Amino acid sequence: MSRGGSDSLGSRDVRIAAVRTLQGLVDGGGSLTRRLPRALAVLPAADRARCQGFCYGLARWHIELQAVAARLMKSPLKPKDRDLAWLIELGLYQLLHTDAPPGRVVDESVEAAATLGKGWARGLVNAVLRRALRERGTLVAGLDEAVRVAHPAWLHERLAEDWPEDLAALCAINNQQAPMTLRVGARDGAVDRAGEGAGEGARDAYRATLAGAGIESLPIEGSARALQLSRPVPVERLPGFAEGRASVQDVSAQLAIERLIAAVPAGARLLDACAAPGGKTAHAAESGHFGDIVALDDDPNRLERVRETLQRLGRVDAVQVRCADAGTPGRWWDGHPYDAILLDAPCSGTGVIRRHPDIKLLRRDADIAPLVAAQARLLDALWPLLAPGGTLLYATCSVLKAENEDQVAAFLARTPDARAASLPATLGRVRPHGAQRLPGVHEGDGFWYAQLSRAP
Ligand SMILES: C[S@@+](CC[C@H](N)C(=O)[O-])C[C@H]1O[C@@H](n2cnc3c(N)ncnc32)[C@H](O)[C@@H]1O
Repeated sequence: MSRGGSDSLGSRDVRIAAVRTLQGLVDGGGSLTRRLPRALAVLPAADRARCQGFCYGLARWHIELQAVAARLMKSPLKPKDRDLAWLIELGLYQLLHTDAPPGRVVDESVEAAATLGKGWARGLVNAVLRRALRERGTLVAGLDEAVRVAHPAWLHERLAEDWPEDLAALCAINNQQAPMTLRVGARDGAVDRAGEGAGEGARDAYRATLAGAGIESLPIEGSARALQLSRPVPVERLPGFAEGRASVQDVSAQLAIERLIAAVPAGARLLDACAAPGGKTAHAAESGHFGDIVALDDDPNRLERVRETLQRLGRVDAVQVRCADAGTPGRWWDGHPYDAILLDAPCSGTGVIRRHPDIKLLRRDADIAPLVAAQARLLDALWPLLAPGGTLLYATCSVLKAENEDQVAAFLARTPDARAASLPATLGRVRPHGAQRLPGVHEGDGFWYAQLSRAP
């Protein structure tokens, strides 16, 4: 048997698959969203959910687990044994954060060491995990607060600076599994067939349909079409999903298009400047509120997902999908001003950590300044494309002020014909120049909205 590291070795073993996925992610980059499907594809179907749970749990708690493991071992493992370090973390994750039977966790972890080709480490894995069980009550005592809540120090500091009162709630929610939320569709056929009305009527009707299929859900207040499921289900189980009766979309994302609909008249010409994977483009197209819609993104692969979604919703003809850099409109703009622009800007993703816990492992403090600069460049480049009297909604799934209210304050200071509208508290916490939704404080993901209008 070869030593650990070979991709084929033990890849059908759930623990090993999770260990390899996280090790590959932290050493080689990418994202869990991209790596996980490859890891799951080689596992028996019955093991996939367990492996996914392991990967998310490891990503969520790695920072804490690494510190706990260091306390439990006399000396650190050698770099070539990083797989063992992850295997120990996985055992610790189960012992500290799940109700898995401890004896089974220890036995399986010990066996997995041998499967990795590191039978010599069986005693070590056994000793570390058994000690963790004995000392469970004191394992995190005295660790830095950031480590205890499994956040990188830089992010914890920024959250403490930006949201001192909400810090504990933010960190706690970031370590929880996000609920599955649907946007109930407005596809004409589906609406007519079911006798559903617009917005809330359609939502009530679909909720009843879900209940008939044994899927419990609750409407989310302050939104017209959001239904939160009491338990996530595969989309294939959602009645009429393939025909566009519902889409998976967090409520905070839904509120972006709801806000634009409230801000601009029917028939407005819309540019969705950073559109992929297309959740908001689809919502806009489905609403029937807008006239021409142009959906732009500079990532051709992600744009494919926009097309697929529009296809599913039967709205392909409602949107012109283009691959281009939104920051250089001279190369793609037809010269007709837009009445509405959605700039759902690339950002730190710090509002969606519970959905993408790998953000805590992959993002660096040094990434923030370049992101802020890229957002500013997009704002400046797109502003002249807005018709006088038009509205640009600047949105991010970030909770960092640098990307949100500070960004907009700087934009307003250098853009004399821009005004920020005051936004309703139903959107989130009302802040200078916009509204901030905070996960754990408001329903849904962390999100920022600024509604900027151009002087007529
Ligand atoms: C936050 S995501 C957008 C999510 C999307 N609005 C949705 O609701 O599904 C940001 C997107 O911006 C795109 N992007 C980043 N820089 C860009 C640029 N200069 N021009 C166009 N798109 C860009 C990324 O490829 C990414 O798909």
